[in-house]
Amino acid sequence: MKLITLKLAAIMWIAVLLGCTNSPKKETIQNYYKEEYRPQFHFSPAENWMNDPNGMFFYEGEYHLFYQYYPDSTVWGPMHWGHAVSTDMVHWTHLPVALAPDEHGYIYSGSAVVDWKNTSGLGKNDQPPLIAIFTYHDPVKEREGKINFESQGLAYSNDKGRTWTKYGNPVLGNPGIRDFRDPKVIWYEAAGKWIMTLAVKDHVAFYSSSNLIDWKKESEFGKGVGAHGGIWECPDLFPLEDKETGTKKWILSVSINPGGPNGGSATQYFVGDFNGNTFSTPQSQERWMDYGRDNYAGVTWSDMPKQDGRRVVLGWMSNWSYAELVPTEKWRSATTIPRELVLKNTDNGYLVTSVPIAELKKIRKEKIELPSQVVSGNVPLNLSEVSPMQAEMAFNFQLKRNSQFGIPEEFGLVFSNDEEEEFRIGYSISEKYFFTDRTHGGKSSFFERFAGKSVAAYDMDDKMQIRVFADKASVEVFVDGGKLVFTDIVFPTTPYDKVTLFSHNGSIKLNESVVWSLSSVW
Ligand code: FRU
Repeated sequence: MKLITLKLAAIMWIAVLLGCTNSPKKETIQNYYKEEYRPQFHFSPAENWMNDPNGMFFYEGEYHLFYQYYPDSTVWGPMHWGHAVSTDMVHWTHLPVALAPDEHGYIYSGSAVVDWKNTSGLGKNDQPPLIAIFTYHDPVKEREGKINFESQGLAYSNDKGRTWTKYGNPVLGNPGIRDFRDPKVIWYEAAGKWIMTLAVKDHVAFYSSSNLIDWKKESEFGKGVGAHGGIWECPDLFPLEDKETGTKKWILSVSINPGGPNGGSATQYFVGDFNGNTFSTPQSQERWMDYGRDNYAGVTWSDMPKQDGRRVVLGWMSNWSYAELVPTEKWRSATTIPRELVLKNTDNGYLVTSVPIAELKKIRKEKIELPSQVVSGNVPLNLSEVSPMQAEMAFNFQLKRNSQFGIPEEFGLVFSNDEEEEFRIGYSISEKYFFTDRTHGGKSSFFERFAGKSVAAYDMDDKMQIRVFADKASVEVFVDGGKLVFTDIVFPTTPYDKVTLFSHNGSIKLNESVVWSLSSVW
């Protein structure tokens, strides 16, 4: 009996001790995704480094997201593909790393598709195989001073993307070119073949294949066309239809680093035609997906259901100029919010506009309606309990040309805190540009040119809608239905808790507008 009591006591002690050792774990779970600057409705890895989103596709009710991931550090290193799934592109479940480096090298960016017709022959049990095509970057060859260290590799999955098997690698060897990477593969319906768009230093190259394994070069595009302030990376090629006229265009997007319109990394695009062999465009102006400093390497989802029909893009919300230096400790970087790309014919030619996906409406919580009012000077908004740094806002401004105060020089809104840090968003009527300004945004000493203003030339009509998604350490701004987009990260020393509308040297009318708090997806 005594022995039993002693045994019981011992077991209880062990339980207590285990409880003790477990308690920090519980603490961690309670504090999951609660760190300073941790995005609440954007995807970020639980810990360590991420950069480009990779290989996004939809299959059997799941949106897959892979991403450039280094599981051992918060700075860039030997690249893996991290993996997560979602049923709405907003709430994510982390899955184990999908692809890890092997004898061919690190796993750089690339794409993945559902091989519906089993053209590769890698399907099993009448299910289409999922095929990932990515760049192998061989650090050994690179160290040896060779230039042919990048090639394209293939991996397939027969279990809804849970495990991946590498196959026949490399499927596309290096032809003696230093930068040869980031394959984006699509099914080209008109000719029943696969097309791979590859970034090759200062241009893209198109390859075709009937089976995703054997590739033949078709053509090149881009030498001397578009922006060339840096290296071309992470291309994408997809059709978009102008819903008003039914006109179909092909869009080629290409990220470039450096050489963005406001410094460092950014993504340009071309509106043109693709005939299965070559891409051509009449476009003479540079076009940018985003004029902020923090949207890079964006690519679109493959295999969206036909009845859905949307083209949805996700970017990496950082900039190579300072991505490894930003003041987050446990993880580095996040994606942008998913955005639907919509083709619009304007007086200025075809534009690819970006619109936050409708699924984001699901996380709206409290709603604050702002009555229509005249804004002259500074007008602080009463947001009661809503934290502006986890919110969506839609401001509808309207110029009143006959206003007694006159047309302002500049108008917009400011996020601020008691430390006199601020993030400004606005339009200069006198100089015709839209801007975001983090010059006095908060922490910036980690990179000299982090502080600063981003601008884009823009002609406003009498009305302007400014839609904003702010999430702890990022602000995404969509102007006039996404004709202009600015994505910026920012690190206030204490969270911005005020929003003030402003109109300098004149007034502007704010028509009914609205602010929503957004719930966390983590
Ligand atoms: C773009 C990029 C890609 C490359 C990957 C490496 O950000 O440089 O060109 O595949 O990152 O992580």
